[in-house]
Amino acid sequence: MHASAAAAEQVVNVGTEPAFAPFEYVNDKSKDKEIIGFDIDMINAIGQKEGFKVKLYPMQFDGLIPAVLTGTIDAAVAGITITDERKKKVDFSDPYYKAGLGIIINDKVKDTVKSAADLKGHKLCSQIGTSGAMYASKVEGATLTTFNTPPESYIELQNGGCDAAINDYPVHSYFMEGDLKAQEPYAAARPPDLRAVRHHALKTEA
Ligand code: ARG
Repeated sequence: MHASAAAAEQVVNVGTEPAFAPFEYVNDKSKDKEIIGFDIDMINAIGQKEGFKVKLYPMQFDGLIPAVLTGTIDAAVAGITITDERKKKVDFSDPYYKAGLGIIINDKVKDTVKSAADLKGHKLCSQIGTSGAMYASKVEGATLTTFNTPPESYIELQNGGCDAAINDYPVHSYFMEGDLKAQEPYAAARPPDLRAVRHHALKTEA
């Protein structure tokens, strides 16, 4: 093998299911409908550090692990929860985010569904192939409808087709943000005018 001046940059083909804001979602404002989000930033940053370029392949969530197994994609990055079942099939990276499931309910059951234990016998919806769907399928006497994406489960919930939607809670809260009217923007904190303070200190020393 001999080195070439313009060695082709390694491309890693990454599958994702981009209806999962804030982790991976389509930027409606961009002309080419680019996929953005926490996971995308993360895998791009790893690529930059390790010298590979990321090529994204949007697909259905329940198709990601099969696609890894057949080699259609090199990796899947999609807010995938590490489970024992999945560990039998694929290798997982180190964990990078701690999430968990959340429940959003339709107003009509607000007096009866106060906690997860009250979900018994209700109409539930979730995203196909997810840990939320797995959880919902085990709720006693409940019926489960699965959708290709979480937003579709929210539409069904709003239409009253199901009583509760079960998906990852960061995705729930991103979706609910407008509703909750409790947005608290985070920012880094620093002294009001650090430069002025330092400047002043220097001056008094001199
Ligand atoms: N964390 C859940 C799971 O692994 C849901 C992930 C869904 N991800 C997505 N991009 N839609 O089952």
